[in-house]
Amino acid sequence: MALEDFFSNFHLLIRWFHILSGICWIGLLYFFNFVNIPLQGSLDDATKKLVNPQLMPRALWWFRWAAMSTFLMGWILFTLKYMYTPGQGFGPTSLFSTESGLTARAVWILMGMLFGSTMWFNVWFVIWPSQKKILSGQFSGDALTALRTRAAKASRVNTFLSGPMLFGMIGAPNYGAVNAVTLLVYIAIAMIVVKLAYTYSLKVGVKK
Ligand code: HEM
Repeated sequence: MALEDFFSNFHLLIRWFHILSGICWIGLLYFFNFVNIPLQGSLDDATKKLVNPQLMPRALWWFRWAAMSTFLMGWILFTLKYMYTPGQGFGPTSLFSTESGLTARAVWILMGMLFGSTMWFNVWFVIWPSQKKILSGQFSGDALTALRTRAAKASRVNTFLSGPMLFGMIGAPNYGAVNAVTLLVYIAIAMIVVKLAYTYSLKVGVKK
């Protein structure tokens, strides 16, 4: 019975948790970039002071821990799928490489993991430290503006990386041969879609 197969069940749970956390993380990233930025532009300072101390710490808690969980589950998944063979132990599997080098699947997932891990780094070492300082209320004037700019830039970079990152995740088990041109085409498609989402986020939903 499949439920007795520890490796398969562990693998499925990790994969499920990886995607669940990823939805939470990227969903909040899109909330910040496509909903909250346009919203903040339409609030006066008094309303911001009322709303943001309630909204931001909660949203940022889920955001950074979902990023951490996605990242950790992703690396465990990588180990289970590409670096471990049940009964034989650790080492690159045939899904990762053959005598002729890296497999197409490995190239896709390495691209996705590079982008995803960069995004995780930005969350934990750029966005969250800046947001923590902003929320402390100890900064004002130019220092506050610099912190806001730093956090906003990293968040925008992450939003652009999220599109190609997801192609890497889903390309790995679903797409065959790959080369640099294929990767560049999919990176370009994903970034154009993100750019369109930014453009429309300023126009959609609310009647002016
Ligand atoms: C943060 C760094 C990340 C790492 C290290 C990582 C790693 C991985 C690995 C190793 C796989 C398995 C690929 C395979 O079976 O060949 C995978 C699959 C996947 N990941 Fe990620 N990932 C990351 C971020 C994300 C994020 C942010 C999302 C957003 C939702 C995501 C969504 C997915 C999806 C949808 C799959 C495909 C699952 C399937 O086909 O069953 N990943 N990831």
